[in-house]
Amino acid sequence: MIKLTKHQIGKEEIVAVNKVLLGNQLTPGKTVKQFETNLIKYIGCNYAVAVQSATAGLHIALLAHGVKPGDEVIVPSVTFSATAIAVSLCGAKVVLADIDPFSLNIDVVDVENKITEKTKAILPVYYAGNPYDIKKLFKISNRYNIPIIEDAACAMGSSYHGQMVGSMGLTTVFSFHPTKNMTAAGGGAVTTNTKKIAEKIKQLRWYGLRRYDHFRLDKLHAISGNYVMNEIQAAIGIEQLKKLPTFNEKRRIIGKEYDHYFKNLINARPLTVMEGTNRYIYVLLIDKDRKEVRRKLKRKGIETQVHYTPLNKHPAYEFTSCLTNTNRLQSKYLSIPIHPQLSESDINKVVNAIHKIIG
Ligand SMILES: Cc1ncc(COP(=O)(O)O)c(C=O)c1O
Repeated sequence: MIKLTKHQIGKEEIVAVNKVLLGNQLTPGKTVKQFETNLIKYIGCNYAVAVQSATAGLHIALLAHGVKPGDEVIVPSVTFSATAIAVSLCGAKVVLADIDPFSLNIDVVDVENKITEKTKAILPVYYAGNPYDIKKLFKISNRYNIPIIEDAACAMGSSYHGQMVGSMGLTTVFSFHPTKNMTAAGGGAVTTNTKKIAEKIKQLRWYGLRRYDHFRLDKLHAISGNYVMNEIQAAIGIEQLKKLPTFNEKRRIIGKEYDHYFKNLINARPLTVMEGTNRYIYVLLIDKDRKEVRRKLKRKGIETQVHYTPLNKHPAYEFTSCLTNTNRLQSKYLSIPIHPQLSESDINKVVNAIHKIIG
């Protein structure tokens, strides 16, 4: 089976993990600090805070910006459920904005339609690792004085007009889940250029205590959860971060190859992405029965996925928003394998199968 995604662990990660296991600290310590320092350097931001997952990072990033029960947070309709869950964990209301039909990213015009007196934050997502219309959303954020907290779970290593995602002065959350472009065997990070926000997030990642120290338990200054990254995860993250540029370059090459072979498809078009995207997933928008296409691709040994069930289709949520593009496109997007371990023969197999099955 040609897998949709595949993490790549080498001897460097194994050596690093062994070193931690043979040492005397597993809870957050100097390895986590080193990982954060390396993230700051790679991304070009002022602060990076390592956490247990992007979901945890989103939750505490929202809390750090004062999101509370009664507030509203605008999120795109097509994203992983964790984006909305983070808002709900704060007790706030999730308000859906529609998607742009070419990138499937948040429709910035619809964001403005959805702003009310209760809007406390805007939470755009880098769909497929690809930047949304940051410039336009910046303007709206400034006009209404509403902060942007970015779900960049899929955007590690992406850039926007030459600027690294996570360095642009917003609060940005990354995921290191094994399906992502680099992993820390789970885990995530929040980046910001604002000291006050970084300090709040550090406090919120460990219950709301001011410092991580099991032996000098401080007083609670906020109420949160146990969202720390451990030393083993950080050791893996340090090694993976060194390899990330190579991983992403390989993904970019495969993406370009797919673009070339799929440009003349009659019943499908590739998702429109910007030059600096990290190609987290490769998405085709197809005009055929997606279930049937997936079944046929599976029979040929090709794994696919649907990113994502729109938030308005989850039974746990009830939305009444008008989402024209979401409703029109929800049965069309299909993710096909793209990861650094794909061989030329895998790529050819995928290309040939797509031409035969979708055409
Ligand atoms: C867009 C998006 N947001 C959030 C998450 C949650 O990430 P994590 O698994 O690190 O909590 C994911 C993970 O798949 C995601 O794709």
